[in-house]
Amino acid sequence: MNASEAAARVMVALDKPDAAEALRVAEALRPFGCWVKVGLELFYAVGPDIVRECRRLGFRIFLDLKLHDIPNQVKGAARSLARLGVDMINVHAAGGTEMMRAAAQGAAEGAEAAGRSAPPLIVAVTQLTSTTREMMNGEIGIPGEVEDTVLRYARLAKKAGLHGVVASPLEAAAIKRAFGRDFLAVTPGIRPAGHEAGDQRRIASPLEALRAGADFLVVGRPVAAAPDPAAALEQILKEMTEA
Ligand code: C5P
Repeated sequence: MNASEAAARVMVALDKPDAAEALRVAEALRPFGCWVKVGLELFYAVGPDIVRECRRLGFRIFLDLKLHDIPNQVKGAARSLARLGVDMINVHAAGGTEMMRAAAQGAAEGAEAAGRSAPPLIVAVTQLTSTTREMMNGEIGIPGEVEDTVLRYARLAKKAGLHGVVASPLEAAAIKRAFGRDFLAVTPGIRPAGHEAGDQRRIASPLEALRAGADFLVVGRPVAAAPDPAAALEQILKEMTEA
């Protein structure tokens, strides 16, 4: 894999409190051809304008708003998000297949209304990468191994016709084995050597994630909070090109 192929599989999370800070990072990453990910913090602060700005800079965009509501609401939300012209959106698989199907339908309608040639990819969050087995068993109330829950939710997402799931790199290999290479594994919890885990629990290095079969690596703080985001991304791409 060369550096531009690697960059096309990296999504940098612009987890910043305002547009100026987010765009400062985005500008620095522009030459690489990576994706950007807009999440809750930035979207709630700035609104849809940030998506337009990132599109103007030429980025592909994963709008990570983790929809989880009654099917009718999620359908409407997905329709609104698809109209913005983003490339990927997501929902919580815990919302069930009817909700996930509604998301797909809404996204298709939104893309058509906006004159887009294709709707955004839709992936389902299985278990957050900050969730440990203890939390899942003791607090959320789901027994068993995290991987079993991830696979069960992935099966629902596939049944609902979604394009893949968000899961930790530790589950990527099992997901690809069970659901095939076309079913996307989007993996946050990426930590290059020497970076702190922070609140993440189920983590792996960029190279480990790739080797496990991850299609997209979501990287937040190791790049976006680095003193030199471009240099930090370059280091990650270098590691990936060894795959
Ligand atoms: O800074 P860090 O690399 O931990 O950022 C990871 C990003 O991935 C955050 O924006 C977070 O919202 C997102 N994410 C996650 N776990 C999921 C889904 C999304 O960490 N299951």
